[in-house]
Amino acid sequence: MAAQALHLVPPTSVAEPLLRARNVTLEYRSEGRVLRATDGVSFDVYRGDRFVLLGPSGCGKSSLLKAAGGFVAPAAGSISVGGELVRGPGPQRMAVFQEFDQLPPWKTVKQNVMFPLLASGRAKRHEAEERALHWIAKVGLDGFADAYPHTLSGGMKQRVAIARALAMEPEVLLMDEPFAALDALTRRKMQEELGRLWEEARFTLLFVTHSIEEALVVGNRILLLSPHPGRVRAEINSHQFDLHSAGGAEFQAASQRIHHLLFGADGAAHEAAPHPAAQGTALTPAAADAETARQA
Ligand SMILES: Nc1ncnc2c1ncn2[C@@H]1O[C@H](COP(=O)(O)OP(=O)(O)OP(=O)(O)O)[C@@H](O)[C@H]1O
Ligand SMILES: [Mg+2]
Repeated sequence: MAAQALHLVPPTSVAEPLLRARNVTLEYRSEGRVLRATDGVSFDVYRGDRFVLLGPSGCGKSSLLKAAGGFVAPAAGSISVGGELVRGPGPQRMAVFQEFDQLPPWKTVKQNVMFPLLASGRAKRHEAEERALHWIAKVGLDGFADAYPHTLSGGMKQRVAIARALAMEPEVLLMDEPFAALDALTRRKMQEELGRLWEEARFTLLFVTHSIEEALVVGNRILLLSPHPGRVRAEINSHQFDLHSAGGAEFQAASQRIHHLLFGADGAAHEAAPHPAAQGTALTPAAADAETARQA
């Protein structure tokens, strides 16, 4: 029996990345002008990673996430998932965005979560309903299955969007600043709950933020991107950090190190002006310092 079992073990010992981004250059064209959002960005995301794209406003984080989702095609380079080139959106790559209006308002919470399951043919009505109720409970929305989005708080709407994405059991969960529009306490709670969901379901996460603190808390690996156009500055490991370590010396040191890697020793920010929607939470040196101070 043992010999037979040994025979079945594949000869490879090195894991293949689940998502591969290779020299990804993203451009937007309008009225004859070309705007380069990212320049030759490469990274590998492994199964079960909580991989964070971190960089100042306008460095192309959202553009990279959209490219991974198949909503934007690279001008050069490629993104593949499970060895297959990303050519368009697909049910194996579900996204959660920052905006609270990502849920169709005419559908209840349950109908919202069921919709991708039914539309993609992943589940028939009965199974879709079961799965939806399971994930609605998992994100703490028991009792709200029949509520409409306009009756929910921002945090609750984000929970629905997370349930909707995870119910699909995607290969990769894409999240673009999903907690950025929430108040500080709710944001912290949502970060904690995302960690708890990951502990349970071990999905692969590609997460965008411009908050150093959030990157350290959420991620196990962080890709640092330069200001516009985004280029890879560095990649760091951050698996040792969580919300409980956020006030500690090691966390502060990592935060400072990232700050230096992003902005240089003089702390001068060369990046474009913060996105209007970012409202002062953009990763400028001042904001990053404030974050560090908040944790102290
Ligand atoms: N649809 C679009 N058309 C034209 N230019 C765009 C479009 N989307 C983004 N850009 C430009 O591409 C660059 C990168 O934008 P992107 O939204 O990816 O940055 P970001 O890192 O997500 O910023 P933020 O932290 O503010 O969300 C910016 O200069 C932006 O103006
Ligand atoms: Mg963005």
